[in-house]
Amino acid sequence: MPENPTTEPTPGLENLLHETRSFPPDPRFAEQANAQAGLYDEAKADRLAFWERQARELVSWRTPFTETLDWSGAPVARWFADGTLNAAYNAVDRHVEAGHGDRVALHFEGEPGDTRTVTYADLQREVSRAANALAALGVTTGDRVVIYLPMLVESVVAMLACARLGAAHSVVFGGFSADALRSRIADAGATLVITADGGYRRGAPSALKPAVDEALEPRNGAEPTTVAHVLVVRRTGQDVAWTEGRDVWWHEALEAADVQHDPVWVEAEHPLFILYTSGTTGKPKGILHTTGGYLTQTAYTHRNVFDLKAETDVYWCTADIGWVTGHSYVVYGPLLNGATQVIYEGTPDSPHQGRWWEIVEKYKVSILYTAPTAIRTFMKWGEEIPDRFDLSSLRVLGSVGESINPEAWMWYRRVIGGGTAPIVDTWWQTETGAIMVSPLPGVTAAKPGSAQVPLPGIAAEVVDDEAHPVPDGGGGYLVLSEPWPSMLRGIWGDLERFKDTYWSRFPGIYFAGDGAKKDEDGDIWLLGRVDDVMNVSGHRLSTTEIESALVSHEYVAEAAVVGAADDTTGQAVVAFVILIGEFADRAADDAGADAVQTALRNHVARQIGAIAKPRKILVVPELPKTRSGKIMRRLLRDVAENRAVGDATTLADSSVMTLIASGLAKPSTSSED
Ligand code: PRX
Repeated sequence: MPENPTTEPTPGLENLLHETRSFPPDPRFAEQANAQAGLYDEAKADRLAFWERQARELVSWRTPFTETLDWSGAPVARWFADGTLNAAYNAVDRHVEAGHGDRVALHFEGEPGDTRTVTYADLQREVSRAANALAALGVTTGDRVVIYLPMLVESVVAMLACARLGAAHSVVFGGFSADALRSRIADAGATLVITADGGYRRGAPSALKPAVDEALEPRNGAEPTTVAHVLVVRRTGQDVAWTEGRDVWWHEALEAADVQHDPVWVEAEHPLFILYTSGTTGKPKGILHTTGGYLTQTAYTHRNVFDLKAETDVYWCTADIGWVTGHSYVVYGPLLNGATQVIYEGTPDSPHQGRWWEIVEKYKVSILYTAPTAIRTFMKWGEEIPDRFDLSSLRVLGSVGESINPEAWMWYRRVIGGGTAPIVDTWWQTETGAIMVSPLPGVTAAKPGSAQVPLPGIAAEVVDDEAHPVPDGGGGYLVLSEPWPSMLRGIWGDLERFKDTYWSRFPGIYFAGDGAKKDEDGDIWLLGRVDDVMNVSGHRLSTTEIESALVSHEYVAEAAVVGAADDTTGQAVVAFVILIGEFADRAADDAGADAVQTALRNHVARQIGAIAKPRKILVVPELPKTRSGKIMRRLLRDVAENRAVGDATTLADSSVMTLIASGLAKPSTSSED
């Protein structure tokens, strides 16, 4: 079955369209902007020549390429294929060679308040040492290394050390469970895991290494692990279990390593990383990105969308390296452009709710890139908190992960951006590797709530069911009709799933899975996913993956999961479960129901990670299904959002919704973290 059965777009987002104001670009800003309007014309006149120029100007090649794009193996693209290069050399060494070794690359701010300043010269030494240390542990070109770390300098160094050796990194977000880690290690066939004893979150040390130990424990019937070594960063100093011969301290390995390391020159299409993301089915997909095209587009978008001036700007992207935003806009894009940036380990409210704004003031951050869910949280906390800090250094603000509602957009601009900073609402995905649809500061008029226009060089369209572009004012699906340099090259080990998921809905055209509209000006508004993927705080979660986790618990006979609209997180996970008879009896009273729900929520956290824990679990006697047995999530969403239930005429048994509603009339069945 194709992985993209389209259902109706997430409701509730249409109200974005009610408010369409637009702010003309600030002419003072425009004069000095990196991107000028001519960029659109240049790309339109000759798209491939445009990308060729970007690749030659923004990336250093060991061997120059002679062919820009080979699309003969579609949908697997080959960009700049006969060129050779190294990603770590591009991110670090060439800046040192150009005389910028003293420029700060990273201002690290730990949650407890410890800091570390790393120049490009420091980074070159650290990455070289780490590459030598990894090589000494047997890592070679073509291997896979799993990285399971908090936001530390070592995390950036670890990724670049892999890239320096031509080994693909696969970063697993620290919030994922041991089980999730285990399946990713196995799927990638990783030979090394890099982790830490723990990290600081919400004012306390939290542990990481135990999850790695658990993930690597032999399990009956499972393939033996491919992992030979675990490299452990000491961050918190807490006690860790130690497996002799397998576990190695990061600091000891690096101390023993030479500071000189010759980067391994790889072909442009050599794998750079695999990043797992949720799809419609239960099994996460290993999205594969390669080197030359990915670096070209991350550098190009970072330079133009954020208008980065490497000599003067201080850039801060608040994403964790566990997500694609951390890959493209903490590690590769900014470092390729020689930027000075802030990385922060902890949460926005530790030790107080002004922590982010204190950081902006302290480092004079001029470009801030974050997610709408964070903005909405700050709105809730009140503007008197940011008002206490000097935010006048900020000149460009970015948003990513979900549509930003106009109210949050206006607040972001007024309270954080001093009323003038351009906001770039950037639409893209793990699969696209880099920003695809976004305004350009100083060039495009800004329109709150809309991601607006495809970047120069990108062919994005909104199409109807028959793949025809919709006229202005129409709605449909967002697609990408021409290949782009940082596009995914596949799903690790599963070419068929790659073709099926993205290229079968509209043959020859990339199907993004997002509903979209075009307004009267032709600007694009994203309307949410049209498949069974939820967006919780800008993170992608699969309904099916959480359902599989729930039914793997002994209490559960059947489960259905929906993303219900939530004022802060965009969507929240709500689960409906049918319990197996004897357990249903146990859940009959309030205390029993609470105990069952706690057990199930903890089970999901163990199977996937705390981010996937349902906000609410509703015990129901039946689930609404069509005659062909498909769960009608639309009706469950109505229930979860406390709306009158919509058209239920296609249900196999129309009394089901009444049963569910009567079951829910019982006392509260919700539980919150
Ligand atoms: O639904 C879109 C939403 O996030 C999805 C991609 O998720 P992920 O691969 O985890 O990458 C997130 C960071 C790039 C998209 O299919 N999305 C992302 N950015 C936006 C967005 N929806 C609306 N507006 C955006 N700016």
